[in-house]
Amino acid sequence: MTSEKERGPASGIDHAASGTPFPVFNVGLLGHGTVGAAFAELLPARAPQVEAITGLRPELSGVLTRSRGDFDDILERSQLIVELIGGLEPARDYVLRAMRAKRHVVTANKQLLSQHGEELWATAREHNVQLRFEAAVAGVVPVIRVLQESLAGAHVERLHGIVNGTTNFILTEMARTGMTYAKALAEAQRLGYAEADPSEDVDGRDAAAKMAILARLAFDTPVSLDQVRYEGIEHIAPDDLEYARDLGLGLKLIGTAERIDGGLSVRVHPAFLYGDHPLASVGGPFNAVTVESPAITEITMSGPGAGGPQTASAVLGDVISAMIPPASTPPTSGELEIVADIVSSFYLHLEVADRPGVLAAVAHVLGEHDVSVKSVVQKGLGESARLVMVMHPVLESKFFDALDRIAELDFMRAKPRAIRVIEEEFH
Ligand SMILES: NC(=O)c1ccc[n+]([C@@H]2O[C@H](COP(=O)([O-])OP(=O)(O)OC[C@H]3O[C@@H](n4cnc5c(N)ncnc54)[C@H](OP(=O)(O)O)[C@@H]3O)[C@@H](O)[C@H]2O)c1
Repeated sequence: MTSEKERGPASGIDHAASGTPFPVFNVGLLGHGTVGAAFAELLPARAPQVEAITGLRPELSGVLTRSRGDFDDILERSQLIVELIGGLEPARDYVLRAMRAKRHVVTANKQLLSQHGEELWATAREHNVQLRFEAAVAGVVPVIRVLQESLAGAHVERLHGIVNGTTNFILTEMARTGMTYAKALAEAQRLGYAEADPSEDVDGRDAAAKMAILARLAFDTPVSLDQVRYEGIEHIAPDDLEYARDLGLGLKLIGTAERIDGGLSVRVHPAFLYGDHPLASVGGPFNAVTVESPAITEITMSGPGAGGPQTASAVLGDVISAMIPPASTPPTSGELEIVADIVSSFYLHLEVADRPGVLAAVAHVLGEHDVSVKSVVQKGLGESARLVMVMHPVLESKFFDALDRIAELDFMRAKPRAIRVIEEEFH
């Protein structure tokens, strides 16, 4: 383990200023697949930021796969082990051995934690090391950290989660296109959102493992995978989605963990949601978790639930956290310029005199400022008329210059009203 004395900031030496290299922090990597390979690329790429935060230079001390590397050798040379093999064995054995040897461990392995979590957490406590697992649930969405730290003092009543991106993508596609489950699954496989063998995703078991982990943290109660009831989405028919849509309902594979009659229920099943539910708009391969508690009302976190680079980013966040107890805010590197003028889309509402040539005059001013109109609606209101327009994205300064000019036109009956339109699509 690294002692405080060995650390950059604690040693009193400003390594960056003095040009002295930072002490090395060795990270051993188990697994070099989708996430492992992305992590092996990300670690050196982000090393300067990690140095700035921790005062230590992270380096990969070794990589273990089925065909290369030796676990004992890597363990010997590492201060922290990242486990990205997946499954129960040998991942469990490696994680336990690493913690018994007083190495911190970061893992993304939901199956392992949902079936052997208590043993692993007890071992971490016994050996006074950190076992971090942000990437095991909802990929890069920082739900573990929020439950363990930000909401540590909250009395959680209920969690709802869309914690499997494959099934969410399939259901979104079925609702969007009317295609069958089999076709939507094939599409998910083609786009890399579903594995060749998707059984654990589509039958709900993957989501159940994640809900077991979340429930353990939120309710401070041991919960293992075999205590979670789960149902999948294989039986969902396009009809179900069509009728529900007419009623304003959307279908999701929902994980729930909630207090009921002094006990705890943890389950996963398809469920209809009304459009105003925070999880209703979570589409495609995205994940989201809603936490309900009397003190906080409700918090929803959402984002990409899987993917090599995304998951590796969550793993790196855990590595950094394990390197720096207690947390600190690093000095800024001042590399980025603050951007004042940005490109935005706008909705523009104009009340004008109802007479010929008004629209042309407005369009002329907009054109002079490189503002182009995406859509326009014109309505008469007796003496005056209302022009409602949506603009294509434009540099804000140009739009506001145009707006100042429009406000001065003699046919204007009220101050123009402009509201930005967020057009980004996340999935
Ligand atoms: N993929 C995602 O988007 C995602 C998202 C969230 C969490 N996760 C979790 O992240 C972990 C890794 O997932 P992944 O998708 O990266 O898996 P993957 O692509 O299947 O890679 C697994 C890696 O582990 C190695 N491995 C397998 N058995 C081994 C053994 N007995 N000894 C040594 N190495 C072994 C493999 O070695 P070879 O190269 O020799 O086959 C491969 O390099 C899993 O726990 C998964 O649930 C993944």
